[in-house]
Formats: sequence, C-alpha cells, structure tokens
Amino acid sequence: MTRTTLAGLVSALALTTALAGCGQPAEVKSDMPPLPASATAPITYARDVHSYAQPEIARVRNVALDLTADFERKILSGTATLTVMAEPGATQVVLDTRNLDIRSVKDEAGQPLQFVLGAADPILGQSLTVTFPPFTAGESRKIVIDYATRPDASALQWLTPSQTAGGEKPYLFSQGQAILTRTWVPTQDSPGIRQTYEARIVAPADLTVVMSAQHLTPEGESAGEGQKAWRFRMTNPIPPYLIAIGIGDLEFAAFDERSGVWTEPSRLKAAHDELVSTADMVDAAEKLYGPYRWGRYDLLVLPPSFPFGGMENPRLTFATPTIIAGDQSLVSLVAHELAHSWSGNLVTNATWSDMWLNEGFTVYFENRIMEALYGRERALMLQSLGWSDLQANLRDLPAADTRLHIDLTGRDPDDGLSDIPYEKGAAFLRTIEATVGRERFDAWLKGYFERNAFTPMTDVGFLKDIRQHLIQGDAALEARLQLDNWIYQPGLPSNAVAPVSNAFVPVDAAARAFTLGGPASAVPWSGWSTQERQRFLGWRPASVPAGGRWLTDAQLADLESTLKLRQEGNAEVVFAWLQIAVAHRYQAAVPTLEHFLTTQGRRKFVLPLFESLWAQGDWGQPIARRIYATARPGYHPVTTGSVDDVVGRPN
Ligand code: BES
Ligand code: ZN
Repeated sequence: MTRTTLAGLVSALALTTALAGCGQPAEVKSDMPPLPASATAPITYARDVHSYAQPEIARVRNVALDLTADFERKILSGTATLTVMAEPGATQVVLDTRNLDIRSVKDEAGQPLQFVLGAADPILGQSLTVTFPPFTAGESRKIVIDYATRPDASALQWLTPSQTAGGEKPYLFSQGQAILTRTWVPTQDSPGIRQTYEARIVAPADLTVVMSAQHLTPEGESAGEGQKAWRFRMTNPIPPYLIAIGIGDLEFAAFDERSGVWTEPSRLKAAHDELVSTADMVDAAEKLYGPYRWGRYDLLVLPPSFPFGGMENPRLTFATPTIIAGDQSLVSLVAHELAHSWSGNLVTNATWSDMWLNEGFTVYFENRIMEALYGRERALMLQSLGWSDLQANLRDLPAADTRLHIDLTGRDPDDGLSDIPYEKGAAFLRTIEATVGRERFDAWLKGYFERNAFTPMTDVGFLKDIRQHLIQGDAALEARLQLDNWIYQPGLPSNAVAPVSNAFVPVDAAARAFTLGGPASAVPWSGWSTQERQRFLGWRPASVPAGGRWLTDAQLADLESTLKLRQEGNAEVVFAWLQIAVAHRYQAAVPTLEHFLTTQGRRKFVLPLFESLWAQGDWGQPIARRIYATARPGYHPVTTGSVDDVVGRPN
C-alpha cells in the first residue's frame, strides 16, 4: 500500500481560489475553519470491493462539475473536470461509472485521451480507465470528461410538478450513498478517496439550485434565455457519496446566523417551526465533541418521495417531510444527521463493511444531543426503541449479518443496511461509556474525531485508536470491554448494557392489559409522547412468533377508532399501526395503508409494509400489487429497487 499526502492539493486549491473570480460577483469568502493537520497526513487506502478505483496508483483529488439540468429530457449533461494525482510513472487512472453516456475524455489542453469502459456489473457499474503519458513525481493533472446522465440514473429523482407541494415546477434531487454518486458523477466513488469539489449548475431561471457545498452565487447568475447558473465550492475533502444536489422551487428561512431550512414556499413556515431546535443542536454537538468544521449547517426538506429519513450531505442535510409532525416530536432525525458532521463526514468508514463506524457512532452521538436538549428520560426512550429494533434484527437476520464488521464481497452495500450497524454500534459505544465512565469516554471520543478528522477509518484503525488512547495497556479494562467480540462476532457480547426506560414501564403494562382484553379507552393515549405511542404500538406478547397474531378484529376496530388512527398524522405512529394492521389482515385499515404508501416514499416505511403484505399471501399480495402499481411511479429508484425485489415490477 502506498502512502500519499493531500498537502499538494491543498496548496493547488489555494491558488485556484486566488485566481478565480474575474468578471464574477465578488468572491464569497470561505466560512469554513482551516483544515486540521490530520487532513494532510499520509493515508493508507483500504481495499474497497465496491469501487474499481486503484487509489494507490492514481487518485482523484478534486471534481469540478459544469452541468446543465434538462428537465424535459431528465438528464444532467456537461463536463466533470477531475484533478488527478498519481505515482511517478503511472499511465492510467481508473474511475467508477454506472449508466452514464461518456462522450469524450480530454486533457487540460483539449487533447483527446484514450479511455475504455469496462464490462457492466449490475451493482458496481462500469470502470472507466483513462490512459495518459507517464506521471512525474508530485505532478497533478486535469482530465475533462464530457458526459450525460440517463433519465433512470439511480441517484437522481426527477419529479414532475404534480409530485411537488406547489404543483407548478419540476424538482430534482440526488442521493449518493452508498455507491450511487457514480450514476451522476464519473469519479472514484469510494468513501476512502476524499475529494474537494466545485460546481456550476445551469437550470431554468425560476428554480433554485442548492448543493452540499458553499453557495458562491446566492442569487444565481443569468446564463442565457430563461436559464440561470449557480456556483458552489466544497473546500473540505469529502467522500464522493456526499456530493449532493437539489433543484426546485425553494425558499430559505433562517433559524439563526449559521442554520436554516430550505424547502418549497408553501411548506416553509411549517418546516421552520418544526425544526428551529436545529440551532441549539449544533451548539450542543460542539460542546460535546469539538468544533463544527463545515461553516453553515442548513437543512433541505424534500418532497415526500425522498427515500430516506435523512441524509447527512455536508452543510445541507437532506430530510424527509415525514418528520414535520407539527409538534417537533421527530427531531431526533436532525440530531442524527447533524452528528454525522463528525461521525461519517469527518471520520469516514473506509469501506461499507464498516458502516457501523458511521452509523453506530452517529446513533450514539445523536442520543447525546437529544439528552442535552430534552433530558435523560427522552434520550432513554429513544435508546429503548432502538434496542427493541435491534432485538428484532438479532432474531431475524442470518447470524453472519449481525456482525458489526461484515463481508460484503459480491453484495450490494445496501445488504448491510439493517439496525445492526446503527443500534448494535451504538450499544457498543454505550457499553464502553458505562465501563470507563462518561468523562473518560467523552474525552476519548472527542480526541478520536480530532485525531482522525478528514480521514478514512477501518475496524483495525478504530481498535488501534481506542487501545492507544483509551485502554492504554490496562489489561483488565481490555478484557472487560470485549472489543473484538463486539466487532467480529455475531449477536451481542455478554457485557452489553441494555437501556432501561422507566417511562416505558406503564406503557408496556397498558399494552399487556389491552392485549388481554381491556378496552382501548383505558389506554392513556392522549397523555403520551410520540415515543410512548411508538412503544405501545410496537409491543408484542413474548409468546407470539414472528408473523403471528395477537389481537381480534374487534380489538383492532376498538384501537383504530378510540386512538383515531385513521386521522393520525405522525408518520412513525401510522407506520407502527399499519404493521399491526397488516399482520392481522385487518381489512378496514387498507385505505389508510394505501394512502400512506402512495403519499410518501421513505424506504424504511414502504419496504417493510410491502414485505409484510407479501407475507400475507392470498390476502396481502393482491393488495400489494394493486397499491404498488399506483405508488411506484412516485417512488425514488432507491425505493423501487428494493420493493421491485418483493412485489415485482408492475407491467
Ligand atoms: N446515512 C444515512 C442514510 C443512508 C445509509 C443512505 C446507508 C444510504 C445508505 C442517514 O444518516 C440515516 O441513517 N438515515 C436514517 C435516519 C436516522 C435517524 C436513523 C433514515 O433514513 O431512516
Ligand atoms: Zn445515519
């Protein structure tokens, strides 16, 4: 493995910045703190089975996009100019692409370069190998790729006006994680290969463009008939899955000087009022684990087809509108995406086999932010809900997939997406915290983010860091922590610390009483928080096997009418209710189910419901097929990709 440094790139960038801006509006000054030393330290590249890149030979350091969004044809087209550094003598750089139309590859002087596209793999796409004269030591070169995306690019969803809140203007957004950036940007699409980026995006003049980067042209610039251009710059080196774009009828409302929310005008007030605590969350996060290194922290609330709850795109978290519940009850999602500004965006899993290093650390950190803002009891309820999800996963998944470090060779990184990296990862950190005490744990974790900022992290790197900086040769502590068991063994090690929420004790009692035949009117629903309601609806008698039933139709009808579940607006509560309804083949809830599945496309909600419907054979499958035929055109490729495997593609 080759060791290399980012220092060359950093100085090259400073130069570009100094030269830019002739004839342009005054250069917007970077609001990001300078890079720490860790960002320029030599790194060792881990082997990433989800990328064709050979970074130890040649690596992309900067991506400059110049793209036009064509909403009629549903394509982005233009150029990606890659700044490449390579080992002396190297004559090739290997990039990742999937489903792109590559029109030409040229050098800086406009001379064509030879390129070949490799065989297409359904998961990885195609390698793009560009050949050039041998590199000399320390040299950096540019290659200019002229290309277009395809209308069915998996990272992109092109919405018609009717799929937006306003109903009048089209919309485009991207979702890069895990390996979808290659469907709209030809680059080395591996989380260990950090790249800075710039972009100039041309779009219809009545739309606003936002990206996971600093806005250099807050108002846009005129770019010919009915078009505007928007320029962006991300000076922190980021993994390519964090390159993100949104285009639509967008407006902004500030929370404070450094955060605010973008969304469609008709949704702006609701989004602002729901999410105002974001500003306090950033302060709380900094107090816990050190400076926020990205300048602004804004949110983009997307149309309902956004396939995830949230996505931690730097400076601009993307979020589902299903968190706008009217009572701020689902804001832990913002705490989660914000926490990724440290765990994930600063210290990044080198490969998708260690997704727990992103997600487990983030769930832990998210909960600490929630505790700081809303107190210990709320934090414990959230932990406890996560713990129940974890138990279900430990029961249902193949043992091998309950390891934190998982082998994804030949598999889609999405296969590793379960509650294991999230909740087992968080339980691991909570166990370490409980063992060494919060003060020592926090000091280590803060140091971990500092020492490893802007670098890729592996299972081995984590173990090395924690042994060196926390355990420090204490053999008794080493034995008590069981670090290797946690990372490499299935299930939960014997030292796992389970969260205990006292608030859930009466909730469980109410659920038991109702199941045993008590009336729904005895359930103190109106006095409960969303988390207590989720707990109540998630409760199952221990004796009921997976897929079994525990309520009668009369009980379900009582529950539905007494708790007013047909009118329920909280997406988490609706989801929890519909899971019960489908498990019982409760026909009266089918209209609610149909409405829920056709008005939002968050995969976490949509996929389990289609799976449970499917498991209900001759009752559920026709319903699933019928609803999917209506719903599918509104879903993002990430969601249809998963649901197609269950229900099949409607014809
Ligand atoms: N980074 C993830 C989303 C993701 C993971 C996208 C893997 C693609 C592949 C994001 O931070 C996340 O975890 N979102 C959760 C919400 C969170 C509160 C647990 C989601 O979307 O449900
Ligand atoms: Zn996450």
